[in-house]
Amino acid sequence: MSEIRIPEGMPQLKSDRAFDPEKDLQLEQPERVWELKDFGYTQQQQDKAPFTIAVTTPFRLLSDKGVETLREIIAELAAFRRQSERMANYIRGSLYYSEFLRGFCALEEVNDFISKLSGRTVRPHPMTLYQGHINLKPEDPSKEVDRWHTDTVLLDYVLMVTDPKSFKGGHFEYFQSTKAEAIRSLIKEDGLPNVVKVEFPKAGYALLQQGNKVVHRANRVEAGNERTTLVQSFVPRDANYIDVSKLNDCKKVDPPEYLFTEWARYKSLLAAEKLQQLTASLPYTTDKGEISHQLRAAIRDVEEAIFELNDPSEGALVHFSDDPLTGLLPEG
Ligand SMILES: [Fe+2]
Repeated sequence: MSEIRIPEGMPQLKSDRAFDPEKDLQLEQPERVWELKDFGYTQQQQDKAPFTIAVTTPFRLLSDKGVETLREIIAELAAFRRQSERMANYIRGSLYYSEFLRGFCALEEVNDFISKLSGRTVRPHPMTLYQGHINLKPEDPSKEVDRWHTDTVLLDYVLMVTDPKSFKGGHFEYFQSTKAEAIRSLIKEDGLPNVVKVEFPKAGYALLQQGNKVVHRANRVEAGNERTTLVQSFVPRDANYIDVSKLNDCKKVDPPEYLFTEWARYKSLLAAEKLQQLTASLPYTTDKGEISHQLRAAIRDVEEAIFELNDPSEGALVHFSDDPLTGLLPEG
């Protein structure tokens, strides 16, 4: 049921067309895959994490032709750009508008590729708003594209859409250390050790990261007219994972007229799949406590969604840049 639904009245883009894997896709393996253990995560932390991967080196994902069409589509989508305290200039819900992006983001070949790299079968994030997120160059040049943070999604790739030779600065950077260690470094500001500055060879290259475990940012753009990336998010194919995303993370980022329905659909999907599993696996037993426990666990996502939808707070998307302690989350 996780197929995309498009809200009514979405405008059509002039540059849009169907995604053609023959022409637009160019998948190549990354040189290196770093795992959580390479970042200093303990065995216990690795065991609790949904994926073993930390981050890859850049790998080719789109052909030159694919990049060309994507840039034309994003130029039109810029009319729908938004600003937030953390992300300076961005577009959400790009799949609502573009057949090309819907085709690209749903491609089975890419999904298989990401599954192999991450070590677990994945699917595109069931919330359309979490797919095809686009970061644009900030209109205020003093602002970072995206401040130090970990993602509220579990796994995502960052695709460079602009020729990296056409702008200065704007590097994607990450700490090659645990989240706790990165935050300690940000608090002490003692030279920020272990920061890796990623060099994308050209447009069409992407890196894959377990974004909730890797503290990263996209730095200020010092020169150039364009610096665009597309972020595509994935979740494990099975519903048996701890979902780190919270409705509060999205309230200041996404249009509420799409967000609330998407949130409810996502949580319903997880619960439906867990209930389906339960119907197949629940043992014959007189242990009413155990049956109740399993029933409650299966519908927990829906209970949480109702609770979050009725929380009147404005929401906040955390980052570590000003006060790292405010963004300190447990490393479950
Ligand atoms: Fe991120």
